[in-house]
Amino acid sequence: MIKTIGVLTSGGDAPGMNAAVRAVTRAGIAQGLEVKAIYRGYKGLIDGEVKTFTSQDVSGIIQRGGTIIKSARCMEFHEPEGRKKAYETIQREHIDALIVIGGDGTFTGGRAFAQEFDVPVIGIPGTIDNDLWGTDATIGYDTSLSTITECIDKLRDTATSHERVFLVEVMGRDAGFLTLNAAIAGGCEVAIIPERAAVEEKVEEAIGSGRRKSKNSSIVLVQEHAVEGGAAAVAKIIEKAHPEYSTRVTVLGHLQRGGSPSAYDRILASRMGVAAVQALVDGQRNVMVGIQNDDIVLVPLSKAIHQKKDIKEDSWQAMSVLSI
Ligand code: F6P
Repeated sequence: MIKTIGVLTSGGDAPGMNAAVRAVTRAGIAQGLEVKAIYRGYKGLIDGEVKTFTSQDVSGIIQRGGTIIKSARCMEFHEPEGRKKAYETIQREHIDALIVIGGDGTFTGGRAFAQEFDVPVIGIPGTIDNDLWGTDATIGYDTSLSTITECIDKLRDTATSHERVFLVEVMGRDAGFLTLNAAIAGGCEVAIIPERAAVEEKVEEAIGSGRRKSKNSSIVLVQEHAVEGGAAAVAKIIEKAHPEYSTRVTVLGHLQRGGSPSAYDRILASRMGVAAVQALVDGQRNVMVGIQNDDIVLVPLSKAIHQKKDIKEDSWQAMSVLSI
């Protein structure tokens, strides 16, 4: 029987992670469980950085970005030796199950750990990338999308004033969800994403025709890993083909991960946190809590990690049609 649960945040932080930690803590306490926060993700699990959380420990955090229990990318946990040390902490702290909040890497580590040591693990998807299969949304994606859109709006003012082509580099690791949807929301001329290549043609098609139709400026969103060299490399391609255009490059970087979570992300995190605790109480293990058509679902961690989530074809079409 599960009496004590551990909760951690791992990998890139995402707005709404705090709301998820709050939900797990309070839902756990409501179920009569002890909740232990593990600091710095898997690194803290290895190092034994554990603290029992009360309801007060998670007070006043629902609106805060980042994660109050910190996050880390822990290479040591990739190795069996590191996971063995983590298991020693689990035994010492009498932790019966883990709720891990993060993305792909977090779930991969959690799944390996669960298989090796027979500890039930539940994943809560927290990443701005929205790249996990089995869930329509991940915690932090909505907030990040709004942040990027706001940045595009600001860049549009200066791009229009100076009649320039702006190349804006957007995060997303291997996925183009943030880039494509921010491009739609920001009314951008081009979105370059890993799922759809052919950079030169796309740029020529959108910028060339845009200029011909006397648009005086363009904003091109470039997903960070879609093109080698990122937005700066695309700027060079454009300048070579069109020396008459003046280009500027903006790398949004970690700005995209900060800020107060949107109402949507706070609600999503709260629902997922409560559902994760319920899943453990119901005897579930090694699943991710997802959301599909506004319903909470449980998806095997193996599928969430290994299956590829595709961008929506209609979104791609909308982007192409609306940018001309
Ligand atoms: O997974 C979230 C993310 O922000 C990705 O979009 C990005 O590629 C990566 O993390 C950056 O990681 P780091 O903060 O470790 O540089």
